[in-house]
Amino acid sequence: MNEQLQKIHDQARQKDVPIMLDGGMEFLLAYIREHENIRDILEIGTAVGYSSIRMALLRWDMQIDTLEINPDMARQAVENIARHGLSDRIHVHLMDGAQFETDRIYDLVFVDAAKSQYRRYMEHFLPNTMKGSVFIFDNLAFHGIVDNEALSTNRSTIQMMHKIRKFREHLLEDERFDTIYYPDIGDGIAVAKVK
Ligand SMILES: C[S@@+](CC[C@H](N)C(=O)[O-])C[C@H]1O[C@@H](n2cnc3c(N)ncnc32)[C@H](O)[C@@H]1O
Repeated sequence: MNEQLQKIHDQARQKDVPIMLDGGMEFLLAYIREHENIRDILEIGTAVGYSSIRMALLRWDMQIDTLEINPDMARQAVENIARHGLSDRIHVHLMDGAQFETDRIYDLVFVDAAKSQYRRYMEHFLPNTMKGSVFIFDNLAFHGIVDNEALSTNRSTIQMMHKIRKFREHLLEDERFDTIYYPDIGDGIAVAKVK
């Protein structure tokens, strides 16, 4: 990782910007490296642009649309992306992810935004995929709380945990996808390949 990226990573951690955990990031990058067909990526949840920059640096011909609802995050992402000379390949859209409409077809949809909306994003963007495209969902373990309710006593966290668990169960049973769930990678990652 270059010095500039390391700085973005470290500052994000210091300021509690929820960029992807290092183990999850390495998994995502390895997956893209292994699947040479991946060129067009949709990311839901840009934050400061860290994950989209790391993905874009893997291949010069990769194009990324990334969606962010928070104007301050989107502004920082645009600046970070410009500093890396990637503004022609990473397109930040300031909006609610579920409102994004396009006729582009993506090889990979990386879902890393509002956890309660994962099912909605999946249904909304399924028409923008083809057979063999993948959805990658982060945070399906939600810091271990999904599989161990006793880790939290906070009511809203527990409500969120129930939603994530329901989504995860639904995804694993959904016959439109071949899904593998990796509980121990990052914060719990699922890879769902469109059949
Ligand atoms: C976990 S962070 C993304 C981290 C980023 N993918 C990375 O690893 O560098 C989630 C981001 O999603 C954004 N977000 C939350 N709800 C959203 C929505 N409905 N549409 C788009 N972005 C959303 C948040 O503002 C936050 O910046």
